[in-house]
Order: sequence, then C-alpha cells, then structure tokens
Amino acid sequence: MIGSPRPLPDFALEVYLERREFEARYDLCGSDCESWSIEEILAFGNDDDRKRWSTMRLGYIPVQGSPELRDAIAGSYEAIAPDDVLCFAGAQEGIFCAMHALLEPGDDAVVLVPGYQSAESLPAALANVRAVSLEYRDGWHLDLARVEAALGPKTKLLAVNFPNNPTGCIPDRATFDALVGLCRARGTYLLSDEVYRGIELDRAKQLPQAADLYERALSLNVVSKAYGLAGLRVGWIATRERALIERMTKLKHYLSICNAAPSELLATIAIRARAAIFERNRAIVACNLPLLDDFFARHAGRFEWYHPDGGCVAFPRYTGAASVDAFCEDLLERAGVLLLPGSTFESPHAAVPHGRFRIGFGRASIEPHLRAFDRYLESA
Ligand SMILES: Cc1ncc(COP(=O)(O)O)c(C=O)c1O
Repeated sequence: MIGSPRPLPDFALEVYLERREFEARYDLCGSDCESWSIEEILAFGNDDDRKRWSTMRLGYIPVQGSPELRDAIAGSYEAIAPDDVLCFAGAQEGIFCAMHALLEPGDDAVVLVPGYQSAESLPAALANVRAVSLEYRDGWHLDLARVEAALGPKTKLLAVNFPNNPTGCIPDRATFDALVGLCRARGTYLLSDEVYRGIELDRAKQLPQAADLYERALSLNVVSKAYGLAGLRVGWIATRERALIERMTKLKHYLSICNAAPSELLATIAIRARAAIFERNRAIVACNLPLLDDFFARHAGRFEWYHPDGGCVAFPRYTGAASVDAFCEDLLERAGVLLLPGSTFESPHAAVPHGRFRIGFGRASIEPHLRAFDRYLESA
C-alpha cells in the first residue's frame, strides 16, 4: 500500500529551515559537509568518466540505479552485491520506501529520539511506534536495556541512526553488535541510517555497516552528508533481502522513478574516490571542532557543550533564561546566525531534553559565523 493510514504531521525541521536556510547570513546548523563543484568531482574521475560526462544523453536511466553506481556502492561494503542495492533520490526517498515496504497497520516499530523526523513520523503513520530516548550524561548514550525493553517478541522494525542527527552519538561496537543480536533473535528488520558515517575523527569509533553484519538489515546512505554532495540527491539502501529490494522498487515507481543521470555519474565518481573525499571533510571537522571548543569555553555560562562521537552536528544546551526558540529567533534576526532549535526534534513518543539546539561543523570556515555569534552574545 502507498499512502499512510494516518496523516503525516508537518516535518518540523524542514518547515523551520525551508526559508531560513537560504536567507540566513551565517548558516551554523547545516547538517552536511562542505559541498564540491562539478569540476572538483570530475577531477577525481578518469578520462573516460569526463568523456561520459560531456557526451551523456539526458534520458531515463535504470530505476534501480545505473550498474556503475551500484557497482561502486557495493564496493564500499563487504557483503553486498550490486543487486543488493537500490538507489533513491536522496536518503529521504529511501526512508519513505523502506517504511512503506516494511510496515503495515498492526505492526510494531521501535525508533530512537531525538532523530531525523521521517524515521519516526512515517512508521507512526503506518504502524505502532515505541520510541527510546538517547540519554545525555557528559555526552549522548544509548541504553541497550531500554531498547530491549521496547522490543516485543514480534517487533517488525528497529530504526537507528549513528552517527546520530542531531547528537553525533555513536554507541560502541559491542552495543551495536548487541542491537543486531536483539534484532536477529526476533527476526526484526534493522533500518540503519548511516548517512554521517565516514568522517569520524576517532576512526576506532566508526561502526560497521549494518547490511554487512545482518541479513535483515537495511543500510541507508546518501552522498549528501559525509560526502558533501547534497545537491546530487543520490541515496541508496543496501540489503541482502532481495524481496525488499523488489517491494521498494515498486514503491519508487510512484515517486522519482529513477535518479538524474548526471547526478548518478558524479555520485559514482565520488563514491569511488570516497577515501579522498572523506579525508578532506574530516580535515574540515578537525579544524572546526577546536573553534567550537574555544567558542563554548568563552561562553561557558550560557551553554553546555560536549564532544560528539562522529558526524558533523552536535546538540548542545542553551542555559540562558529565554526559551531556546526565542533565543534562536533573536540570534537570527539580530545577527543573521542560524541555529536549529531543539523543538524541531520534539517527539510525541518520547522525551527530548529541552533547551538544546543543533549546531553544524561540516562546512569550511565557520569562523565568520562564530564571530557574528560572539558579537551578538557580547551585545546581549
Ligand atoms: C539522519 C538523516 N537521514 C536522512 C536524511 C535525508 O537525507 P537527504 O536530504 O539526502 O535525503 C537526513 C537529512 O538531514 C538525515 O539527517
């Protein structure tokens, strides 16, 4: 079935950002890494890629994704073949298709909060949802016992996202393996959103890709975030459950049908060159985090800062007297600095701590943004 039995709520984060993101002078909450130019991506390719780029004909391409793209994607996993991959217009379309392919009325799903809203709102519109909150204790943590308590004997789906948006939380490897074990014991599907994977500064914290570990896992990824190519709108799901690939393909027939050919070629080149791409983006993050450490140390009376485990976003706390929504609105209006208030991550299913906001550090040169933020705080 396509379409949800229950209406979908507004996507709070997208509604908040849709206008502000493009008008703000200093966007300091972006969740993607610095973007690349077409020229830069083509420079990662070979002569044949560049010839294909300039002679490409702009017709339809295969629904599942071009063979070259699926080949490049499969090459980034250990246990995934090109036919285990279905490409989408962004990760968002992948979430939509996966939830619709997996869930029916009466099914149970478990999700984590705070998280990317569609991974919660879509299952809630289709089935019964229980949510488990990540907890803050000098950094964000996942309590495995709470996930176990939320999973019933027949829970159909567990949806997770590590590194997490907005907290940057990554559980340790033993916890992730235990999550897989909980799913395997119940036959539960694991939708693992891995869109921020690849730029961890501490590489020991990088988790394996779920589809390599578990036959009922769906690894969701996209070139938007850790790669810095959001404008291509190329995402994918890798899973060894071929029946699911077929069901999701039929859903995709009603959505984008196929990706844009130029985007798929550039994504193919980027995925093959992922080591260099992640290296540059890791360097940006490594340069930005000390700037944030320094900034929050200077304003320690107003914020509670911590170091995220990975990704390029964090979810610090504003400790001032005003509500964080009012603070973010005033900061934007008076200083042109855009932060994302934590209210956009609120959940009807579990508590999200109040007073937090998302800050992004994947873009090059956040220094002018922090200077504008400094000036605002000094004048406030
Ligand atoms: C965790 C997570 N998953 C999926 C998406 C959707 O990605 P895309 O915009 O590439 O469709 C986002 C975007 O912010 C995200 O943060």
